[in-house]
Amino acid sequence: MCTVTCIASINIAVIKYWGKRDEVLILPVNDSISATLDTDHLHAKTTVMTSSTFKEDRIWLNGKEEEIKNPRLQNCLTQIRKRARNSNQWKVHICSENNFPTAAGLASSAAGYACLVVALAKLYQIEDDITSIARSGSGSACRSVMGGFVKWCMGSESNGADSIAKQIVPASHWPEMRILILVVNDTKKKISSSIGMKRTIETSDLMQHRIKHVLPNRIKIIEQAIIEKDFKTFAEHTIKDSNQMHAVCLDAYPPVVYMNDVSHTIINFVHAYNEAVNEVKVAYTFDAGPNATLYLLEESVPEFMGVLDHFFPPGINLEQYRKGLTFKEVINSQELFNKINTTRQAPGSLKYIIYTKVGNGPKYLEDPNDHLLNKEGLPI
Ligand code: DP6
Repeated sequence: MCTVTCIASINIAVIKYWGKRDEVLILPVNDSISATLDTDHLHAKTTVMTSSTFKEDRIWLNGKEEEIKNPRLQNCLTQIRKRARNSNQWKVHICSENNFPTAAGLASSAAGYACLVVALAKLYQIEDDITSIARSGSGSACRSVMGGFVKWCMGSESNGADSIAKQIVPASHWPEMRILILVVNDTKKKISSSIGMKRTIETSDLMQHRIKHVLPNRIKIIEQAIIEKDFKTFAEHTIKDSNQMHAVCLDAYPPVVYMNDVSHTIINFVHAYNEAVNEVKVAYTFDAGPNATLYLLEESVPEFMGVLDHFFPPGINLEQYRKGLTFKEVINSQELFNKINTTRQAPGSLKYIIYTKVGNGPKYLEDPNDHLLNKEGLPI
């Protein structure tokens, strides 16, 4: 019997992956860049176990047994077994859970598949690149296989061998970077990113402009901005890329809409704040849903939190509302509030916020008490 437990975090793209050139292998139409978040606040935890006594492969997700025949899961398992350095042909049991509510609409599949593949790679002693295996589970998962700022190179080979993720810089390169996730109250059922990107690539003319004429240059500029720690350039391109992804979605037919009124209010608010302080201090980005992720430097947090709480008053007590890292200080300046040209929202338009930072990537948990499967290979 052999058991491995691992945690991995979600990543938030600043240059979005949007559109596939191969739906089965999950090959993208563009390079993308993201930061992997700290595992302390938002992580998937996965235990994998093999044993001669197991009769079949099985998987439990967030406490419920799921279908092992899921094609994306099978892609990962098949590739892992092909690349295994040991001759372990025993069946595997997998148990995985998130430490954040799936209902929050945060990209859980990236953390989940990255965690699964990193755990299986240890179990099967795979030492070379595993990002392409994570990619075949969910595209963006390949960027969660490592920490810091990460680039997924789209590659050109038809079998996907060169469509892999590489670290641009580790988290320690830009330790001042902070992330604030604003979880927006929302009830609407969203279009999955797979369906949204398929429709966009098939029907949007603007998409061709994005891929051919915007992204090649934008990728180079933002990569350089990360290396030089040039926040202004980083923030401007992050904002523009999020808006362009949602613009091509709107150009799809029928249109693919992910943001809601609160999302648009956040966009206006961030621009009004940056204008009032006469500097680009905060960048926003939106994935396939209404939640906003903000990138900002630690030194901007006390002032920004003051204005955020003023314009988006919490609807619940602060202990429940503020998750993640502790806010050491929050500055309230009436003078600054007066300068910000936007309207104050009703309390509770944000469900809660998560304050976090860039992380170091997946971690193995060596303590047997951390395992999610017992000696019989069943969830604990
Ligand atoms: C908007 O990785 O969830 O978050 O490859 O179909 O599983 P599949 O899609 P997924 O798409 C993520 C899209 C995004 C942008 C990004 O993370 O780059």
